[in-house]
Amino acid sequence: TKEGFDTFMEKEIREQPRAVAETLKERLDAKGALTLDELRIGAETFRGIESVIIVACGTAAYAGQVARYAIEHWCRIPCEVELAHEFRYRDPVVSVRTLVVAISQSGETMDTIMAIRHAREQGARVLAIVNTPGSTISREADAVLLTHAGPEIAVASTKAFTAQIAACYLLGLYLAQVRGNKYADEIADYLDRLSEMPAKIQTVLDRYAGSPDLGVDLERIKSVIFLGRHVGYPVAMEGALKLKEIAYLHAEGFAAGELKHGPIALIEEGQPVVIIVPTPRRPELHRKVVSNIAEVRARGAVTLVVAEDGDESVNEFAEVVWRVPKTPTLMRPLVDVLPLQLFALRMAGHLGFDVDQPRNLAKSVTVE
Ligand code: M6R
Repeated sequence: TKEGFDTFMEKEIREQPRAVAETLKERLDAKGALTLDELRIGAETFRGIESVIIVACGTAAYAGQVARYAIEHWCRIPCEVELAHEFRYRDPVVSVRTLVVAISQSGETMDTIMAIRHAREQGARVLAIVNTPGSTISREADAVLLTHAGPEIAVASTKAFTAQIAACYLLGLYLAQVRGNKYADEIADYLDRLSEMPAKIQTVLDRYAGSPDLGVDLERIKSVIFLGRHVGYPVAMEGALKLKEIAYLHAEGFAAGELKHGPIALIEEGQPVVIIVPTPRRPELHRKVVSNIAEVRARGAVTLVVAEDGDESVNEFAEVVWRVPKTPTLMRPLVDVLPLQLFALRMAGHLGFDVDQPRNLAKSVTVE
């Protein structure tokens, strides 16, 4: 049931603190070590892994793109992310020392199933991050790390996304631990940071419990551009996907650094641009994105900005600022995506569309 919400999507957006908390629960042992008992791949195999390839589609692939930043940083293993339907056809280089990570909410996405079959035929180990126990992907994988988001009914994925990021981070920390890149105290510290995220997610959801202020004339919006750098880049693409799926609006997510290589030509008076601003504690990232806001604003864009509490540098360039609590850079996607989900929900509601069952889409894509 919708438990008092108008739509499943809104209910699922509001369930994200629990989805993330449940996914992280009971993964630390008394000594502060990360234990992932359900992984049926031995620690020895994880130690021998030379590369990680994440395969997924849609929102799950964006979760994978976020994970890549963490896995490479923590584990120092090359990590690629590929759309499952592209992976199979490019003759990928995989071996017994490749860990293929399939991410899927449903566990029934045919493109992802075919990708893991292909990977296994080449001898790769396959680990599945799925939300549906007993699903095809969980049965065919060598090991499974479950997300505990609970059933996701709305076609547009929300709580599965944040739970997938949490699970990927557990995997990244586990790999770092077994491979000796990180010591128990560092792992415990990261897990502490992660375990603070459900409360931060709740804070953002409480702030924007009503209709988030959009600061734009909804009637006039024809397209929306999303910009992000580093982990904000896949979040920008996810924000755009949500808007396409449920509000039927043209939307694109770009890497903010790519702006002057082309997309800035799109900016004209009144063009809404959503920008995810990294923490000021990473000045090399922050400074550049703030100057991107100024650039689009100077060309007439209506700027909707996601920024941390206390980051006043964005105020003079922003039509609207959606505030998120101070959060370590790698964890920011868990809060940054929330205003974007709510923005899409609000837009779709305003336009009168059925947000749970958008046209032309199925909850799980079981054909290739
Ligand atoms: O069930 P899966 O996670 O494998 O599904 C993958 C995509 O089909 C899915 O994320 C899709 O993009 C959603 N409609 C996004 O909101």
